[in-house]
Amino acid sequence: MAPAGWFDTPSGYGRISRGFHWLMAALFAWHFAGALLFVSIGDTAITRFVGGTHFTMGFTLFVLVLLRGVWGLINLKRRPPHPGRLGRAAVAGHLLIYALMVIVPGLALLRQYGSGDPFSPYGIPVMPARGNRIEWMMVPADLLHYWLGFTLLVVVLGHAAMAVLHRILWKEDVLGRMT
Ligand code: HEM
Ligand code: HEM
Repeated sequence: MAPAGWFDTPSGYGRISRGFHWLMAALFAWHFAGALLFVSIGDTAITRFVGGTHFTMGFTLFVLVLLRGVWGLINLKRRPPHPGRLGRAAVAGHLLIYALMVIVPGLALLRQYGSGDPFSPYGIPVMPARGNRIEWMMVPADLLHYWLGFTLLVVVLGHAAMAVLHRILWKEDVLGRMT
């Protein structure tokens, strides 16, 4: 068990970091369930129920990852250390997850803006309707959103597997820092 403070400490992540981690993990599970339903069984009623939140949920995850990143930087010096070669690999893996969590929705939002269509998650008019399309804003997401989206899924599954393996193979309580 990690200590129950608000801030992170070298022996574990604090309440806010754990809150961000598990809230976003739950939202990502829902989000990817929708994407997987869409590419597997296609456009059915259940796909629409789960996948219908894709834009709003993707936007929510984008805002959350920016806040989480700021909180991570504030806590950087206090976080559990990752010594050695494997530690550097773990840090590189986490940075890759952050990069994808920013780039995947970031490019989609750029495409959304370029499309000129209105975008109002939760009724907030983030992007008003505009008459014209801006083609170059749409190209990156057309090319990369799908593939980088599924790359994030694969990397995150590997990440969760590593957390469990740490416990089973090396008897290290890495999981305990985040729970
Ligand atoms: C972290 C956030 C996001 C992830 C991980 C993600 C992931 C994915 C994945 C895996 C697909 C392909 C499967 C499918 O078609 O359902 C997809 C498609 C799509 N997403 Fe997202 N998405 C995110 C955010 C967003 C946002 C914020 C928007 C729009 C504002 C968006 C718009 C779309 C659109 C239009 C498609 C279908 C066209 C395409 O594949 O490029 N996504 N997304
Ligand atoms: C069942 C699923 C998951 C498990 C068991 C798990 C476990 C963990 C553990 C134990 C840590 C601490 C690792 C350390 O200090 O070295 C961690 C950190 C992290 N996890 Fe996960 N995780 C899961 C899902 C996710 C998901 C879905 C994401 C993002 C999409 C994610 C992103 C991260 C990131 C970026 C860190 C670095 C610390 C931070 O900035 O929050 N994890 N995870």
